[in-house]
Amino acid sequence: MMPAPVRACFVTGTDTEVGKTLVSCALLHAWAQEGLVAAGLKPVAAGAQEPPEAQGLYSQWVNEDVEQLRQASSLTLSSQQVSPYVLRTPVAPHLAARREGVHLDMQVMVQAYQHLCGLAQAVVVEGVGGFCVPLNEHQDTSDLAAQLGLPVVLVVGLRLGCINHALLTSQAIAAKGLRLAAWVANTVDAHMPELQNNVQAIHERLQLLAPVGQQVVYAGCVPRLSEPVAEAAATYLDWRGVDWRAT
Ligand SMILES: Nc1ncnc2c1ncn2[C@@H]1O[C@H](COP(=O)(O)OP(=O)(O)OP(=O)(O)O)[C@@H](O)[C@H]1O
Ligand SMILES: [Mg+2]
Repeated sequence: MMPAPVRACFVTGTDTEVGKTLVSCALLHAWAQEGLVAAGLKPVAAGAQEPPEAQGLYSQWVNEDVEQLRQASSLTLSSQQVSPYVLRTPVAPHLAARREGVHLDMQVMVQAYQHLCGLAQAVVVEGVGGFCVPLNEHQDTSDLAAQLGLPVVLVVGLRLGCINHALLTSQAIAAKGLRLAAWVANTVDAHMPELQNNVQAIHERLQLLAPVGQQVVYAGCVPRLSEPVAEAAATYLDWRGVDWRAT
């Protein structure tokens, strides 16, 4: 019997720092709860700290996203398996790479994904920043998402301006021939006026932008959490009805 195809998605956001890692870890948690062996991938991580035990060894530097995805994965993965590129400088990846004399090769990222597909039954790929962040002179993260051909989950950071960012991102996803499978509202600004009406406006318009017959599932709204951990965020999200098939 053929093994079941790996369930996977590409998690993008309306911006950097909007909750992609939190939602990616919550999704890994949900998939693990379903009994799937789930693994997280961060194709490029920019911004790493040197732990005391690293003793100057650059390969030992740790990135917060990579550590969180590693911990949320249901199998033991090395930092290298979760991210083939951990850059030290916390700036746009192509600039960090240039500074550090690294060429970000999309094929290396695709291979890292394929490697995880050989180990896990479900893979969550967390994008970098927003959807169109450059990786090198010629390619950006939307090209990587297209190369992987995965359904996309959009994390919308709820704050003023997020409707526009959500709709632009949805158009960029469609322009790459990809499918927006689900979206999550994450409360970045807990005091945002008209929060629920913003969610409603985004939900209606994302569905209007989708091709006829395609459902953009609203997985839920994560409130501002006192402890922003995967298990807590997962309780606010319902992924039922999401079509995880690759495009
Ligand atoms: N709902 C929430 N409640 C409380 N804190 C949150 C919430 N969502 C995110 N955070 C915190 O905000 C920060 C940014 O979140 P997160 O790292 O998930 O964003 P990101 O989109 O993955 O950022 P990056 O672009 O750097 O990958 C983190 O410190 C996280 O713990
Ligand atoms: Mg992140």
